[in-house]
Amino acid sequence: MNMPEGYGTRLSRTLTMSPDPVVYASDATWQAERRTVFAATWQYVGDARKLTLTGDHLAASFAGYRVIVVRQADGSLKGFHNICRHRAAPVIETDGYGRSAVLTCPYHRWAYGLDGGLRTTPEFGEVAGFRCEDHGLLGVHVDVWREHIFVHLGDEPKPLEKALIDMPGLVGDRPLERCTLYDSWFIDFDANWKVYLENYVEGYHVPSVHLAFNAELEPGSFTTKAHRNTITMRADAKAGGLYEGLWTWTWPAFTLVLFHGGYDISRICPISPEKTRVHFDIYVDPKADLSDEQKAATSKGVRDLVAEDMAISEAVHANLASGVFPGGPLSPRHEEGVALFHDKLRAAGVA
Ligand code: FES
Ligand SMILES: [Fe+2]
Repeated sequence: MNMPEGYGTRLSRTLTMSPDPVVYASDATWQAERRTVFAATWQYVGDARKLTLTGDHLAASFAGYRVIVVRQADGSLKGFHNICRHRAAPVIETDGYGRSAVLTCPYHRWAYGLDGGLRTTPEFGEVAGFRCEDHGLLGVHVDVWREHIFVHLGDEPKPLEKALIDMPGLVGDRPLERCTLYDSWFIDFDANWKVYLENYVEGYHVPSVHLAFNAELEPGSFTTKAHRNTITMRADAKAGGLYEGLWTWTWPAFTLVLFHGGYDISRICPISPEKTRVHFDIYVDPKADLSDEQKAATSKGVRDLVAEDMAISEAVHANLASGVFPGGPLSPRHEEGVALFHDKLRAAGVA
C-alpha cells in the first residue's frame, strides 16, 4: 500500500474517525488479526548475533504462535513452529536463547534434528505406515535484516526488504551490526495491542503524559510522518539530552529507536484481545564509549516512558471495552501515524 505524501493534509480535509471500538475487545477480531496480520507479515523475533554456532537457537511467541529459529551447520538459519508433531507440546519449553545438538520434546522425548527432521521416537512402538520423514517440525520462513531475525508464517511471503522498505533511508549507515545487547526485558499489561500502538505512533500525548521526557525536548519540535510501511516521530533534543530524536514503528509490531551511541528495538506481541506483552532490547555501540551511567540512564529512560504509556493504554482500553465510546476524531497535526495504522488494519480486514 503506497501512502501519498502529506497524509496529514488528508486528515485536515476529511474528518477521520477511529475504528468501531468493538475491534479492541472482540474475540472475532482477535482471531482474524492473528491470521491476517500476525501470520501474514514479517515478525521480528530476536538477535542473529546471539546465534553464532551450530545448534544455537531462539524460541519466541507472538499472537498465540510459537516459533523456533535454529542455526544450521552450513551457517544458515531455519525456522519452525514450536509444536511437536506427536501431541503438540512445545519442543522448546521456554522462550529465549539456547543451544542443542538435537531438539528433544520434553513431553515424550521425540527428538528432532536441527533441520527439523524427526529422528527418534523412544518407546513409541511399531505402527504400520508411520515414517519419521512425514512428521518433521512444520517450517516457517526466516530472514535477517542487519542482524535482526524475522519470521513469516505465511506460504509465499513478500521479501523482508519490502516490509522494511522505509528503513534504509531512515537508519542509513548507522553501525547497527557492531552494537551489542545491553539490556533486554518484557512487560505485560492489560490493554489491546492496538491501543498501545496508537499511542506509540503519536506525540500528541508527550507533553501531558511524559513530563520528564518532554522536558528534554525542544518545545514544539515533535513531528510525526507516515511513510509507506513505517511511521517516524522526530523531535529535537535539548543539548546534552539522551535522545537523538528518531523513533520508528513499522507495520505491524516492530519499533526501532535511535539514540546517541545505540538503538533500541521493541516488538509488540498480543497475548489476547485484552493482554499484550512488549519485549525490549537495548543495544549499545562499543565504539561510542558510553559510560555505565549513560547506559543505565538510557535503559531507565525507556522503562519510565513505557510505564507511562502502559498506564494510559490500560485506562483507554478499559473505556473502549465499556461499550460507551462511539469513536473519536483524529488530529491532522499529530495523528497521521494513527490514521496510517488504522488504514493498515482496514487493508488487513480487521478494522
Ligand atoms: S508431544 Fe512431543 S513427544 Fe509427545
Ligand atoms: Fe508515549
